[in-house]
Amino acid sequence: MGFSVTAPQFAAPFDVEMGETILDAALRAGLAYPHGCRSGNCGACKSALIEGEVEMSPHSEFALSPAERANGLILACRAVPWSDCSVRILDADETVAHPLRKMQCRVVDVADLTHDIRRVRLAIEEGGPFTFTAGQYANIRFADLPSRDYSMANRPDQPLLEFHIRLVPGGAVTPFVREQVKAGDSVRVEGPFGTSYLRDKHTGPILALAGGSGLAPIKSIVETALAGGKRQPITLYFGVRAERDLYGEAEFQALMATYGNFRFVAVLSSPDGPTVRRTGFLADAVRADLLAAGPTALDGAKAYLAGPPVMVESAVAALADLGVGRQDCHADAFYTEADKAKIAAASAG
Ligand SMILES: Cc1cc2nc3c(=O)[nH]c(=O)nc-3n(C[C@H](O)[C@H](O)[C@H](O)COP(=O)(O)OP(=O)(O)OC[C@H]3O[C@@H](n4cnc5c(N)ncnc54)[C@H](O)[C@@H]3O)c2cc1C
Ligand code: FES
Repeated sequence: MGFSVTAPQFAAPFDVEMGETILDAALRAGLAYPHGCRSGNCGACKSALIEGEVEMSPHSEFALSPAERANGLILACRAVPWSDCSVRILDADETVAHPLRKMQCRVVDVADLTHDIRRVRLAIEEGGPFTFTAGQYANIRFADLPSRDYSMANRPDQPLLEFHIRLVPGGAVTPFVREQVKAGDSVRVEGPFGTSYLRDKHTGPILALAGGSGLAPIKSIVETALAGGKRQPITLYFGVRAERDLYGEAEFQALMATYGNFRFVAVLSSPDGPTVRRTGFLADAVRADLLAAGPTALDGAKAYLAGPPVMVESAVAALADLGVGRQDCHADAFYTEADKAKIAAASAG
């Protein structure tokens, strides 16, 4: 026995099996329900529960705050129906629907971008063609290790898939990527996923905020926007700890020389010594610049954010203070297994 779920975005109701989440059931039915992490961390599947009862499993407050929950919002990836339900998807602006592909890829080359971030480029051998929108990510399985999410750093029109993978000490996958992945290796890739993609119809200012390897999707977004002829101001803030964590700077400076509407700002949070660069936390640098630019600088703006959860969450909060609502912040926080375990423990206790 199961239940039925309706959503105005879909022509027909879909069936949910007992114990199944609304998101899993929608995806099983082949519906393009917006989603990202599928683990209650990102907020991409946020929906209004119009009618019916659901049980919510643990999720982060960033994805859904207690106030939002009290106002009848749910996360479809955490919501298990206990009756027939009616929901309304919130993040429905400019939805994209690419076919979900399960592909066999081959490593073309591996290069060090910094002391702890590697670039891995893949050629698709089977299961393509792969289409995605700049800012989306894929689920990747190296050898027989658990699969992990990594964002595409290339533009969608480029043939090789490019990933920037930061070493997480003690992790199940990234030490292997650091030490062992090499050209010629076979890799399984499934995707695309995610809703923090470039909104093509948007013509207002773009704030692109990246921390560490969060530069991967943000690079794809910025390069796609510029190559596609977008004319609005596009500002990329790249937050890292120290000089040795910076990468891609020469390429972004070249883009700045070519496109008058693009600006690149590197921000160091813990410089090793005296520096001419901006210093401090990324969110503070963005806040200071926007306050100095005046109240109209953010009219019609959208922000794209990716990187460590603490950076993404503080930047989203800073933007909210300045009047950029959550619906205009398209954010991928790079939650690891440790972050997910913390959220589960906090919600359980
Ligand atoms: C949407 C999305 C996009 C992403 N894109 C990128 C990207 O482009 N580039 C990138 O570098 N990363 C990205 N990430 C992060 C990436 O998916 C991995 O989480 C990261 O690479 C760590 O993988 P790992 O297997 O090495 O570490 P994990 O095995 O996840 O371990 C991480 C840390 O947690 C500890 N740990 C593991 N399990 C537990 C547990 N149960 N309890 C407590 N601690 C635990 C480990 O010891 C380690 O220190 C993205 C994440 C998301 C959600
Ligand atoms: S997909 Fe539901 S919170 Fe990320």
